[in-house]
Amino acid sequence: MSVLNLTDQPISAHEADVLVLASAPSADGADLAAGYDLPAEAASHLSGVLAALEAKGKVDEVITLALVPGIAARKVILSGIAPKKGAAEPTADSIRLAAGAGLRAAGKAGRVVLAFPAAGEDLLIASAEGAALGAYAFTTHKSVKDAAAQPAPSGPQSAVEAIHLHVADAKDAAAQAALARAAAVADATAYARDLVNTPPNLLYPQTFAESVQEHIAAAGLPIEVIVHDEQQLTEMGCGGIIGVGQGSSRPPRIVELHYAPSDATGRIAFVGKGITFDTGGVCIKPSASMLTMKCDMAGAAAVAGAVIAAAQRGLPAAVSGYLCLAENMPGGNAQRPSDIVTMRSGTTVEIIDTDAEGRMVLADGISLAAESGADAIVDVATLTGACMIALGMRVAGVMSNDDGFRERVLAAAGSAGEPMWPLPLPEDLRNKLDSGVADLQHKGDQYGGALTAGLFLREFAQDAEGTAIPWAHLDIAGPAYLTEPPFGHVVKGGTGFAVATLVDLAAGWGEQ
Ligand code: BES
Ligand code: MN
Ligand code: ZN
Repeated sequence: MSVLNLTDQPISAHEADVLVLASAPSADGADLAAGYDLPAEAASHLSGVLAALEAKGKVDEVITLALVPGIAARKVILSGIAPKKGAAEPTADSIRLAAGAGLRAAGKAGRVVLAFPAAGEDLLIASAEGAALGAYAFTTHKSVKDAAAQPAPSGPQSAVEAIHLHVADAKDAAAQAALARAAAVADATAYARDLVNTPPNLLYPQTFAESVQEHIAAAGLPIEVIVHDEQQLTEMGCGGIIGVGQGSSRPPRIVELHYAPSDATGRIAFVGKGITFDTGGVCIKPSASMLTMKCDMAGAAAVAGAVIAAAQRGLPAAVSGYLCLAENMPGGNAQRPSDIVTMRSGTTVEIIDTDAEGRMVLADGISLAAESGADAIVDVATLTGACMIALGMRVAGVMSNDDGFRERVLAAAGSAGEPMWPLPLPEDLRNKLDSGVADLQHKGDQYGGALTAGLFLREFAQDAEGTAIPWAHLDIAGPAYLTEPPFGHVVKGGTGFAVATLVDLAAGWGEQ
């Protein structure tokens, strides 16, 4: 059960704890966004406040007021809806961020009403997604919890009990369908955030697999779940993930998720990096770099969320997920630099650096996805620090063996509001992966580290005859985990980045 609802009650009369309204740029600063039908005393009070505070009406400008004349809600939050740069007109992205910022400012509250100028389905979906995710809070391990802020029994964790989105007609079927779509993505993103935020002493390959199984069973979704344990992975010849996982007392898993509606329009497969903790292995990381490494399973969390949302929405295309789960530890049986492992594909790989473990687990997952006959494959991974150097903390890198497919992924990211940028796979770097003793080595030199990682993965996105399968690689090392101050609907910790993009991509699959 999601925290999202629709309401068409008069905005000013709602006995809510918090009312979130939109502010927008005006000729001389900012004013209430157009289209509100508020009592005159409320409208003039709010306009006066915005003028007095010299507000701009842009995203992440949030003003909290109490006891506004003519408004029944205890608190009123004004959230700027104009994009930070460029035109003053709100976009789906700016609305998503503004709704999130408004709900973050609401803090722990019971009932929140969000009344944004909702022109059309896209803006309603964006405001619903933003509101639900802005209200997200990870409180599982807090001893003292606010009674008003208990999560709904089967719903995502939320600092608020209920969010009511104001629309003209709450019974309108199109508005209800739009809300359900938004709730599916927001709930799945919140689940991905929960997985990332869960500490690595509690979330390891076995418990990750169990969580996904239980989540799908509790939601009653039509998803087949297959869990391969370490013995099966050995028998399957998945030497990449076995090698990475063998230094941990908690053995690896690959979880397959299959959502397959009858008369599917096509089939797309997602592969996620699920390193539940990345110490670096024997090439151990300095402790400062290790602190955030519980986030190294964010790709697998995003894939799990995406398959769940696809099934929840009943998409026409079949969607499969491959969660490549291992813990990268320097135990007594850990793999060593100079080891040679044989991958699921039969390719032999010389280990150069045990901290370049993500590509090893993903390669086996990509091979399994390729064998399954999917039309296209997307892998998602917190893969390289180099991608963060290149693109910063908010933008993911997209690499692909197929220009058309890369464009589709970027278009999906655009509509989902998740910043992604294309990176090349330069052929001249390919020889950095040549090994003197094996078919490949898994690491290049210090230059273009995100790209050599992509080139390594590309080797596995092919069928048994060696024909390339359309494949894209999303390096989400930056945006998967927020350590900087929150913005819009994005709070500290796991962000759930890529769930929305994968769902949008899957939603259009089969309509080529
Ligand atoms: N999980 C890391 C990448 C990472 C770093 C993700 C920071 C999120 C934040 C990955 O396994 C790793 O260690 N990559 C190495 C690759 C190198 C050894 C080729 C890196 O980026 O330094
Ligand atoms: Mn690593
Ligand atoms: Zn890693």
